[in-house]
Amino acid sequence: MKVIGIVTSGGDAPGMNAAVRAITRVSNKLGMDVFGIYHGYAGLIEDEIIRLDTRKVGDILHRGGTILKTARSPEFMTEAGQAKAVANIKKYGMQGLAIIGGDGSFRGALALQKHGIRVVGIPGTIDNDIPCTDYTIGFDTAVNTIVDSVNKIRDTATSHERTFVVEVMGKNCGDLALSSGLAGGAEVILIPEIEPDYDAVCKKVQKSHDQAKSHAVVIVAEGVGGDPKGRGVYDSSAFRVANYINEKTNIETRVTILGHIQRGGSPTVNDRLLASRLGAEAAKALYEKDTGKMVATKDGKIVRVDLEYALTQKKTVKEEFIELANLLASV
Ligand code: F6P
Repeated sequence: MKVIGIVTSGGDAPGMNAAVRAITRVSNKLGMDVFGIYHGYAGLIEDEIIRLDTRKVGDILHRGGTILKTARSPEFMTEAGQAKAVANIKKYGMQGLAIIGGDGSFRGALALQKHGIRVVGIPGTIDNDIPCTDYTIGFDTAVNTIVDSVNKIRDTATSHERTFVVEVMGKNCGDLALSSGLAGGAEVILIPEIEPDYDAVCKKVQKSHDQAKSHAVVIVAEGVGGDPKGRGVYDSSAFRVANYINEKTNIETRVTILGHIQRGGSPTVNDRLLASRLGAEAAKALYEKDTGKMVATKDGKIVRVDLEYALTQKKTVKEEFIELANLLASV
């Protein structure tokens, strides 16, 4: 392999730049030329392609977002869009692509593979919703951002002796809610993988109130009660829970929807390490033409998993975290 391209696609995630840097530098060391594609698959179609090298990826390791920008491209879903993308890949002599993103981006990668393009996927999304990897790039930073926000919310919640319902992202995956709820000491954590029992939530909040706890924090994943896509902001999972608590109890309740703040910020050390390790492995996999793979972590080790296989697997819920959160929050 002599020439490769790098795509960042879907929602940006802190650590994507660290991955771009690692892929570029390791590729250059292995004698491969590198192109960066702007705006994800849309940039492949529109020929927004620049040359990257070891120097050009300096000073980006610590930056959130993606220097290559990102987008969701409806045109790429079409055969015509894919044909344009393939033509541009060939025009620049790219023999393989490293694609950093989530499940949608990986489905795009498989579509390119069907057109004969070699691909390696790098899991990058704050949601941690990709099967066959312990973690995705960006998850750790997002959890830290949420916990930092919950710490602040606790100060005001305690002062006013209020209940706060805090909505976090994660699409249909509860990992962000579960990890931040556990690390942030939430009284209640609601995740999409488990049908919500709003009466049980009220009971817990009431019990906490009756036992003179100075506040209660309920963390609710955006995907609780159905797919968050297509739901308006005023039908958010947090408002549903808060309205229920308000109707059934006399406890003063407020809502905070953390929103896109969860996607920003300088990547944590864990995300920088993960992105650097996965990026380096992706470059090696491309060099060896060991493609159609996703680079991943399994029990802390870097592994390569068949990309198509990974996408057919179901991500499991961390039962241990659920039990521990319930145990620690019990009053
Ligand atoms: O996949 C990352 C994510 O932040 C999800 O948690 C969230 O549902 C979605 O992207 C939001 O997408 P957008 O930035 O397009 O509103």
